Amino acid sequence: MENEALRNILTRRSIRKYTDQPVEEEKIDLLLRAAMAAPSARNIQPWEFIVLTKRESIDKLATFSPYVGMLRDAPLAIVVCGRTDSEAGSPDYWVIDCAAAVQNILLAAHALGLGGVWLGVHPRRERQDVLEQIFKLPENVVPHSVISIGYPAEQKEPANRYRDDRVHRETW
Ligand SMILES: Cc1cc2nc3c(=O)[nH]c(=O)nc-3n(C[C@H](O)[C@H](O)[C@H](O)COP(=O)(O)O)c2cc1C
Repeated sequence: MENEALRNILTRRSIRKYTDQPVEEEKIDLLLRAAMAAPSARNIQPWEFIVLTKRESIDKLATFSPYVGMLRDAPLAIVVCGRTDSEAGSPDYWVIDCAAAVQNILLAAHALGLGGVWLGVHPRRERQDVLEQIFKLPENVVPHSVISIGYPAEQKEPANRYRDDRVHRETW
């Protein structure tokens, strides 16, 4: 693949095993810049990010759902939250906007030699409750997703999911 950006998109996979190597602050900064470069409806940017690098902070998250055990080995977790109020937030589009930010983080992580996995929170009420309690979030801030990140301790082949039958030209 000649184009580096396309290669990055087409080879990204969920990485759930990490080495002990911490993620450098410069890379964390780049992940957050990538997140906030995402498109958002009316450019409202209704996102907030909680960055966790302390072992005890990340371990606290490791039980918010049955599918997030990899957090116990992750040196970095980013909680993406959405602002739902109509002042600084986006009551209609925050879920979609935050999803774009999450995907940008995953792609940036892959480009930086890191690996990550998207851990869904919203709209599962019981998962939201756990995170809202841990972080004592304000009423207008909803936890959208957690991203578990680290240097990969597993390699995965690219997944070719292209399906011609899912493509409709000019009409359905
Ligand atoms: C909204 C959303 C929620 C997800 N939640 C979890 C999760 O809780 N635990 C997990 O291990 N993977 C989770 N994933 C990752 C998916 O399982 C993964 O993206 C999918 O199997 C495709 O594999 P790939 O990312 O390696 O291409 C989630 C992905 C999305 C988009």
